[in-house]
Amino acid sequence: MQKPAKSFVVVEGLDGAGTTTQTEKLHDYFTRKGVDSFPTREPTGGPVGKFIRQALSRDVFPSADGAAWIPGERELALLFAADRLEHSRDINARRDGGSLVLCDRYIFSSMAYQTLDPSISAEWVREINRGCAVPDVTFFLSVSAAECLRRISSRDEKATIYEKLELLEQINDNYDRLAAYYEDCFGPLVKIDGSKPADEVHALMVETLHKRFDF
Ligand code: TMP
Repeated sequence: MQKPAKSFVVVEGLDGAGTTTQTEKLHDYFTRKGVDSFPTREPTGGPVGKFIRQALSRDVFPSADGAAWIPGERELALLFAADRLEHSRDINARRDGGSLVLCDRYIFSSMAYQTLDPSISAEWVREINRGCAVPDVTFFLSVSAAECLRRISSRDEKATIYEKLELLEQINDNYDRLAAYYEDCFGPLVKIDGSKPADEVHALMVETLHKRFDF
């Protein structure tokens, strides 16, 4: 019998901060503990999420001249919100059914990344995400932009449009600047020093979750 957890936990941070690694580690840990854990991510693997990933890697070619479509942050914010609304149905159903839902990125990413466009406010991002599932706790893995870029460069993956030092620095500033507002809107935000070794970061996250929840 798996232990019910009924919680929705989000892991946030810059590209290279370790959100994917830490979401996987939490899933492995809680599964071993007999908790019904479900890992997921955004952009999702659904139709809108797949389209977003292609666009972020400049793999969408709508015009006959072969030029890639590079969407603006406003278009992206709306696409992410559409992907999230669809995702939220599954998140809510799984959480209500007793699962611990662990999500690699969520609304805080939209707030920090899409506000790179100065005409986009965090309030507007909140507005277009109304109706989406609300996390029980959000972790923010704090890592400098330079360290993230170093980690990203050692991977064998196609770069996204954000993987440049000055953009990552701006996104990190956005995460800091918007932390209090995010917490007002979407509940507790726990900042973790993500520059520590992965196992130490994991231990801190597990400790936080055991303190907050009784699963
Ligand atoms: P990743 O999941 O491999 O980190 O890639 C997703 C990219 O999408 C990452 O650069 C962050 C970006 N992103 C946004 O800009 N806004 C969002 O709302 C989300 C979920 C991701």
